[in-house]
Amino acid sequence: MADTNKTATLSFDNKRIELPIYAGTAGPDVIDIRKLYAEGGVFTYDPGFTSTASCDSTITFIDGEEGVLLHRGYPIDQLAGKSHYLEVCYLLLYGDLPTAEQLEDFESRVTQHTMLHEQMQYFFRGFRRDAHPMAVMVGVVGAMSAFYHDSTDINDPWQREVASIRLIAKMPTIAAWAYKYSIGQPFVYPRNDLDYASNFLRMCFAVPAEEYEVNPILSRAMDRIFTLHADHEQNASTSTVRLASSSGANPFACIAAGIACLWGPAHGGANQACLEMLREIGTPDRIPEFIARAKDKNDPFRLMGFGHRVYKNFDPRATVMKQSADEVLDLLGIENNPTLQVAKELEKQALEDPYFADKKLFPNVDFYSGIILDAMGLPTSMFTPIFAIARTVGWISQWKEQLSDPQLKIGRPRQLYHGETTRDYIDVENR
Ligand code: CMC
Repeated sequence: MADTNKTATLSFDNKRIELPIYAGTAGPDVIDIRKLYAEGGVFTYDPGFTSTASCDSTITFIDGEEGVLLHRGYPIDQLAGKSHYLEVCYLLLYGDLPTAEQLEDFESRVTQHTMLHEQMQYFFRGFRRDAHPMAVMVGVVGAMSAFYHDSTDINDPWQREVASIRLIAKMPTIAAWAYKYSIGQPFVYPRNDLDYASNFLRMCFAVPAEEYEVNPILSRAMDRIFTLHADHEQNASTSTVRLASSSGANPFACIAAGIACLWGPAHGGANQACLEMLREIGTPDRIPEFIARAKDKNDPFRLMGFGHRVYKNFDPRATVMKQSADEVLDLLGIENNPTLQVAKELEKQALEDPYFADKKLFPNVDFYSGIILDAMGLPTSMFTPIFAIARTVGWISQWKEQLSDPQLKIGRPRQLYHGETTRDYIDVENR
């Protein structure tokens, strides 16, 4: 960050505090409040961190007003159109697009780590068959620290690198095995002659009894879903990973924490919640009823797949995802699918409704990704695990960046306390 030579002045209680202002390469300037408590004895108050920059980063930039998403400077539509997931992983992790040789080496390193420790099978088998795959993923990824001791030392750059590669490589195997276990089918081992997305599709859909051939259009669509979800700067799950890591926790524990946070319906769980909502609506004639509920202040219902904390005009990922949805549905010959009909009509009616226009609520990436995944034959419970596979590289890139930041401190927010002040303990018989 660059010093702007500007300061903000805060005056209260006869105090006057000068706060430095810094500029990034893009985006709003930031006011450095680190000395505020020491000099002024006050905290700032920002629940939900709507005005707080928690770190200094060079990985991803979002301009929510303009619908811009850049990874290391490259626009997401160019990456989704011309690149592929593992190349984007390299870009996020190391800062630049790889040369052909670097890409080949990176892909080969990821490919060599796709298998899980054989003992982990028994760990999967300990879960109930009806466990949500996200619950299994939180458990299994956390348990990786018990299986891969040789890559948990965060102070060793080599171990950090091995842990990063292992997580990216094994996440599709973990998600696919969680799925296979839930449907009572044998685990399918990874095949290293396949690309990342094809290998995942095969591990989800192949059975030992017959050959399975991956459809290249579906594999491309899956790769695009991975690419579009790869990173999104300081969102809730990434901030969770950074906070967990700030205490020095090992990488597998930190990523497990990120998966737990991603699961919530306001974040990664929205893709599952969105498709379930579309199914609940059922037919286009019921849309007005659900739109009315979404607008009703006394009803907690929200239109899932609509709105975003940062994007206030459109979600650039949604634009690409919508196009991809059209391609996949076309390939699969799905036109009269009732869920799709409801989705199209809901999008139209919501966009024409002044409530959504005034609050700048637009379909987000999760509105369309669920439609594609459903068409591919994946159950809704697998939608968020697929988001988790994709976001793993973002979490790791941000984790690595944080660990190399000389200003790293344990994350420790303060609070505005509103509870009882000191009172004396009363013995139970006198209460
Ligand atoms: N349906 C109806 N009203 C909504 C919606 C919605 N989906 N989203 C926001 N609003 C209203 C909200 O009630 C509030 O109204 P008011 O100002 O009258 O109180 C206003 O819009 C602002 O909402 P907010 O909750 O203050 O906004 P936020 O920035 O805190 O929340 C959000 C962002 C994504 C959590 C929210 O829009 C939401 O819950 N959307 C549905 C869930 C969803 O699709 N999440 C996926 C996000 S994209 C994938 C990812 O990055 O994880």
